[in-house]
Amino acid sequence: MRWSTTLVLPFLPLTVLAGKFNDPALRSRHARHAIQARTNSTKFAIADYYQGESFLNEWDFFTDADPTNGNVNYQSQAQAVQKGLAFVQADGTTVLKVDNFTNVAVGGNRDSVRISSQKTYNGGLFIADFWSMPHGCSVWPAYWSVGPNWPSQGEIDVLEGVHEQPTNQYTLHTSEGCELGNSFNTKSVLSTIISDNCASSGSDNRGCAFSDPSTESYGHGFNILAGGVFAHLWDSTGIYIWRFTRAAIPADITAQNPDPSTWGTPAASFPASNCDIASHFSEHSLVLDTTICGDFAGPTYAASGCAGTCAQAVANSTNFDFAKWEINYIAVYNPTN
Ligand SMILES: *[C@@H]1O[C@H](CO)[C@@H](O)[C@H](O)[C@H]1NC(C)=O
Ligand SMILES: *[C@@H]1O[C@H](CO)[C@@H](O)[C@H](O)[C@H]1NC(C)=O
Ligand SMILES: *[C@@H]1O[C@H](CO)[C@@H](O)[C@H](O)[C@H]1NC(C)=O
Repeated sequence: MRWSTTLVLPFLPLTVLAGKFNDPALRSRHARHAIQARTNSTKFAIADYYQGESFLNEWDFFTDADPTNGNVNYQSQAQAVQKGLAFVQADGTTVLKVDNFTNVAVGGNRDSVRISSQKTYNGGLFIADFWSMPHGCSVWPAYWSVGPNWPSQGEIDVLEGVHEQPTNQYTLHTSEGCELGNSFNTKSVLSTIISDNCASSGSDNRGCAFSDPSTESYGHGFNILAGGVFAHLWDSTGIYIWRFTRAAIPADITAQNPDPSTWGTPAASFPASNCDIASHFSEHSLVLDTTICGDFAGPTYAASGCAGTCAQAVANSTNFDFAKWEINYIAVYNPTN
């Protein structure tokens, strides 16, 4: 969710780093470690299950100016409910959306919603099931988690992108001393490395990031399949993210008896080999938001294929018809062994 002006467009992945991660000797040494680490089966017990009204009552509505400089007026819970920007549908799914019924002046702000869990976490298995996610010209949604003191308590961006980009980006932001490292095994993930240094320094806040190669991972391509699940495991060995389209959600997830050791290669992984997870990530709230323009969607607007300028896009309500989260649930599990 944090971006500097030194941007990497997720739809223009850099290949300059590729050679660094392809040393065969390093790869095979690391592969054994990575495969063993994720082969061990761990049992998980459900700790929190957010669904329906829980997103309105057990999460806080952020009402300050957007820290990422987006053209949004984040609404309080009462305002969001009253304006129809946050509500529970008859089928139990929760909608969090951007105002798509008011035209605002060019240069103005549009009403939107940003919520964060009151509970905080120091690890666990997080399973988020979305029926649909926001997308559209100028739109910048994210499902992420962050500690109170940024960047020293870390940030995990599970689902994030801008405009009508076709694929998802997975990113960590940290303080110094956390990276994917030279020995990272590119075969241990389904995604492509965009950048390897997780630490934010100076104006470079790119973080360490992966681009998911599948158009089923983001926006329209995700939504037309009735969405799916993003699951991430955060433990002392690393942070691992899996993605499943709705038709491919593992039965153990649906049965609330998840076993990540059976899920195969993760979409993205951030092993502890070059990042002490415990000292870089703590007290995370889960966050769902949709901002507009700002530090990421603003500078990337011109190359996005969208018409006009970002400020003009904000003004036109028709750009926000798909700027909507439809959340089935978010479940949090703790390991029991
Ligand atoms: C997995 O199990 C093996 C054998 O019991 C053990 O040596 C290894 O440390 C375990 N890995 C993790 C990540 O717990
Ligand atoms: C708003 O956007 C729609 C779709 O791109 C377009 O048809 C319409 O003319 C725009 N309205 C204004 C006031 O620019
Ligand atoms: C807002 O978007 C929804 C689809 O998400 C659409 O059904 C509705 O007609 C739109 N509202 C307006 C005023 O265009």
